[in-house]
Parts: sequence; C-alpha cells; structure tokens
Amino acid sequence: MATAKTKSSYACTECGWSAVKWVGRCGECQSWGTVQEVGAQTGLVKKARPTVILESAKARSIADIPAGGVASTPTGVAEFDRVLGGGLVAGAVILLSGEPGVGKSTLLLEVAAKVARSGTRVLYVSGEESVGQVRLRAERTGAIAEQLFLATENDLSSVLGQIEAVEPGLVLVDSVQTIASADMDGAAGMPSQIREVASALISVAKERGIPTVLVGHVTKDGSIAGPRVLEHLVDVVCQFEGDRQTALRFVRSLKNRFGPTDEIGCFEMTSDGIAEVPDPSGLFLSRGSLPISGTCVTVTMEGKRPLIAEVQALVVKSGAPQPRRVTNGVDTSRVNMILAVLERRAGLKLSDYDVFVSTVGGVKLTEPAADLAIALAVASAVQDKPIAHNLVAFGEISLAGEVRSVSSSRQRATEASRLGFIRNVDTEVGDLRAALALGLNW
Ligand code: TYD
Ligand code: MG
Repeated sequence: MATAKTKSSYACTECGWSAVKWVGRCGECQSWGTVQEVGAQTGLVKKARPTVILESAKARSIADIPAGGVASTPTGVAEFDRVLGGGLVAGAVILLSGEPGVGKSTLLLEVAAKVARSGTRVLYVSGEESVGQVRLRAERTGAIAEQLFLATENDLSSVLGQIEAVEPGLVLVDSVQTIASADMDGAAGMPSQIREVASALISVAKERGIPTVLVGHVTKDGSIAGPRVLEHLVDVVCQFEGDRQTALRFVRSLKNRFGPTDEIGCFEMTSDGIAEVPDPSGLFLSRGSLPISGTCVTVTMEGKRPLIAEVQALVVKSGAPQPRRVTNGVDTSRVNMILAVLERRAGLKLSDYDVFVSTVGGVKLTEPAADLAIALAVASAVQDKPIAHNLVAFGEISLAGEVRSVSSSRQRATEASRLGFIRNVDTEVGDLRAALALGLNW
C-alpha cells in the first residue's frame, strides 16, 4: 500500500519562490525572513487530465481573432496621460509607487479633480488621511469638484461597499498598504494582506470595468513594499521619483500593458499643489549673461524624452595627500574614470587637485552620454576658460580616449538646437583631445 506522506512546503511571500524546507533567505529574490510555511501538502501527486474542449472554445488562429482595441480616456493631466500611454483604460489597474512625502496623494487628488470635472464620478478612498484633511488639501490646491467623492476606510469590505454605493467611473485607493481584509490574519501592510486587498480590488475593477489607481509605498531600497506579485497583478506600474530637497518630480512607467514604458511625466511641487512641466529643459540650466568656466551643457535622455542639463565642475589645489572627488547628480566612479582618462590621454594634471562635479537643478545624469560634458567642464575649470555658449556636448568616453557616439543622437541634437545650441562636439570629433580643442579652443 502506498503511504501518502504529508510534507509541509514553504514559499517566499515576496516572490512566490517555493522550497521543501525552511530557509532564512529566499533563493530567488534574496530577501531575508520572507520564507513561510504554506501548509501541508500531500506527497501524492494528482495527475491532471485533459478536459474536452468545445468546438466554439477551441484555440483560434491569431489572424482570425478580431482586435479588441483599448480605448483610453485622458485624465486631463497631460503629463500623467503621457505616462499611461494616452489615459485611463476601462478596468485597468494602475499601481503608483513612490517614497513617502514625494507627492503621490497630491498628484492623485489633482487627477481625481480633473476627471471629476469632466463629469465622471470619482471615488477617492484614503486609508491615511481623514476626509477633512483631504478636503483641506483640495481647497489649497484647487481640487474641489462636485463629482469627487471622499471616504476614509481601512477595511477592505467597506471599500468594496463604497464602490457599490457610489458607483464611480474611477477609483483611487491611497494606499494599498493601509487597507486590510478582516478575513485574513495579520495587520494591514503585511504581504498576505496586500495581496488579498489588491486582488479583491483588481477583480472588482475587471468585473465592472472601472479604472483603478492603487498607491503603493516603497521600501528604502526602492522596491514596492509587499509582495512582488503586486507588480505582476496590475496592468500598469508607475514610479514617482524625486528628491524632497528639489521641487522636480518624474513619473515613470515601469510596466504598461497598454502602451510603451519609456515615457516619463514631469511635474513640479509648488506651494499650491503639483504643476505639470511640459517643457522641463530650461529647469536645468543656470545661464547667466556672462560665460563662466567649468560648466558644460549636455542632453540626457529620460525615457524617450531629451532633456537639456548642465554639468558644473570646480577644480582647486588640494592640501590633502589624497585629493577629494566630490560629486552631486553624477556617478563618482564614472567621474574618477573620466579624470583618469583626462590625465592619461589629454595630459591634464589633476592628481594634485580636489575636483567637485555637480549638475544643476537636481537632475541625475546616469548615462555614459554625459561623459563628454563632464570632461569638458573639468577641463574648462582647470584652464579657467569658458566653453562657447552655444555648444552642447554628449558622448561616451572610452578608456582609450575616444569619443563614442550615443543612442538617440538625432533627438538630442534636435532638442539642443530648439534651445539655441548650434554646435555639437560629439558629431564633430572622434577623440577626447580634439573635443577639448574644439570646446576650449586649445
Ligand atoms: P503627499 O502628496 O502627501 O506625499 P505622499 O502621498 O507621496 O506621501 O505630499 C507631501 C509633500 O508634498 C509634503 O512634504 C509637502 C509637499 N506639498 C507641496 O509642496 N505642495 C502642496 O500643495 C502639497 C499639498 C504638498
Ligand atoms: Mg500620501
């Protein structure tokens, strides 16, 4: 007689990885302490049998299937619509993630008011703020609308009840970590609760065709708190980025079932709400009337969007045995590499100098395309010679001292010329010495 041996199994609450015995660290996503027992499983494996498929339900050739077009309705916040790939799609669930205080609730309220003014009933469920607090904020940011309905709820069934009662055309839940289901153990925000709440809201959204936006907090390392499955469940994942020190905010789509993912939306936090920035290029320039040494303009790509940015460098004689390399907005190891190439390939003596490199307006330059501008800014600072005011530089610098061309060169050049930069170092030279000669009239 075959004995059915019962075995427990363990699964990671973050990514769903399964194991036969308990381990402290997930073998898939490497999270600590997320592997939990998921109940007994019998050792006997049931064999799945094929069911009989009706003729009408048989798989069909893709060519014979009529295209189910997705119609999207703009929210009226154009920068957000751009990220969504046009607007809200019926039944689509959007996860808006970001660090606390970055401006998620402010943006959501703005979207809610715009949609409500267009005549669609909107339900805004807050698990964090009272309706009075939300109303106060709405008054300050000018987001009062007749068709915008507010509720404070922390219980999943009450949220579902509100959706029944209000019959909205758009649901906003702020945030998914503050809602809990009474049928589940554990407090709100636990991975199992988040999964339960999200799946319940997603099934209502799909059944009724209501577009739904869920706010999700992120942990310190930047991932969405709670199970990774949340990202798989939703249709669109938007990430809200920005430093609290600066006013600029980007909304980036990381996943989009209805459109491209390389779009970003640009916003600015102001004293009266969040404002769209349809043309952000000017924000990152510090152009005075007099040319100053140590600055160089570049074009960086944020998703599909070219952005003009400025690199500034300051070079001062070092008193320390180990010269200092301080950067802001650019990668320090990249700067170190560029300094080494400048020293070795272009003969600039930098080892006795402290070097400071920064961007203007808090923009982050992570692309290798910024190399050339960094090199030019440093060289300009060392020589105390300003760079021609109408010159822009983008290009990757290799260890051999070559300047390589970068992706999207045409878009970058078009954006540069739109803002009055008529000379591009990248297209005119092939190596660093020539680039310096051109930029600084060596
Ligand atoms: P909030 O939308 O509450 O952030 P989140 O929901 O992502 O936690 O925004 C909080 C910050 O935004 C707060 O520090 C102040 C700033 N803010 C403004 O600058 N202007 C405004 O009009 C509002 C409402 C907030
Ligand atoms: Mg909030």
